[in-house]
Amino acid sequence: MQKKLREIHNQAVAEIVAVQTEEDLKKIQIRFLGKKGEMTSLLRGMGQLPPEERPLVGGLANQIRDELTNLFAAREEELRSKARQRAMAKEHVDVTLPGKQPMIGHLHPLTLIMEEISNIFLGMGFTIKEGPEIETEYYNFEALNIPREHPAREMQDSFYIRPEILLRTHTSPVQIRTMEELAPQVPVRIIAPGKVYRRDDDATHSPMFHQVEGLVIDRDISLSDLKGTLLLFARQMFGPNQQVRLRPSFFPFTEPSAEVDIACVICGGQGCRVCKDSGWIEILGSGMVHPRVLELSGYDPEEYTAYAFGMGVERVAMLKYGIDDLRMFFSNDIRMLRQFG
Ligand code: DAH
Repeated sequence: MQKKLREIHNQAVAEIVAVQTEEDLKKIQIRFLGKKGEMTSLLRGMGQLPPEERPLVGGLANQIRDELTNLFAAREEELRSKARQRAMAKEHVDVTLPGKQPMIGHLHPLTLIMEEISNIFLGMGFTIKEGPEIETEYYNFEALNIPREHPAREMQDSFYIRPEILLRTHTSPVQIRTMEELAPQVPVRIIAPGKVYRRDDDATHSPMFHQVEGLVIDRDISLSDLKGTLLLFARQMFGPNQQVRLRPSFFPFTEPSAEVDIACVICGGQGCRVCKDSGWIEILGSGMVHPRVLELSGYDPEEYTAYAFGMGVERVAMLKYGIDDLRMFFSNDIRMLRQFG
């Protein structure tokens, strides 16, 4: 019987060491030490032993039970702590890993440039005006002294909603709307940023693009005011050494008219592919407002003079950011847009 007890002991110890889960451990414990377990059933046979052996076997049985009970408890603790460690490892957070950044939207580069242009002029005392994108022929052409036979008036050059009504082809109609609203008040110093539409579509033209119109009316306004203002603008936009030049041109609503170039920001005026080796890049049309335009909209040209300009926003943005294809702005390529966040 003592031998049998030792066997049970050894067997139990081997199983306790080998078991891997608390659940299985419990089963083993019940099998060995439970009410119907091996120890209990063995000890039931004690009655058959000679009386002198009973205390010996009883003592050994108690010793083994205590020992096993301790072993079970120790192994249970061990397995529990291992399970805890495994669970912790699963939930382990590596605080040195880079975080997951949510995608955050931001303004479009053209919006940023329009804001930058606007802020420069706001700093010079201009205010901002807006006008409708759907215009009448009167505001878009007539009042700007653009003759009936002008090609821009043709269906194939402009987007007509119906006869007489079209998507504005430039921001210049805002000049007229402003004069009608304010005449004969002076001084007038406004800019009008916004979208304009033409039937063009290639690497340098988009059917929708942006302009910032400018209009200044007062007594004794001259071409030098225009040039000084635009020089200041160009230097704030492109740097303190930026040069501008006025090139004689023609617009029906200005006399004299000039196109304004800035020294090529890519090559610094040396001549390159972007400026077509000229060293200069055109960014706007401008001039002294034609007396007929002033008069028609309520300002006496004998008393007041005015200058106006219309700037190409995409042009400015391309130069500022070094972008060489206009379509980049409108293709919604997130890799390009993201650089401006
Ligand atoms: N409206 C002209 C265009 O879109 C640009 C322009 C030229 C605007 C001369 C002006 C100006 O205000 O005075 O081509």
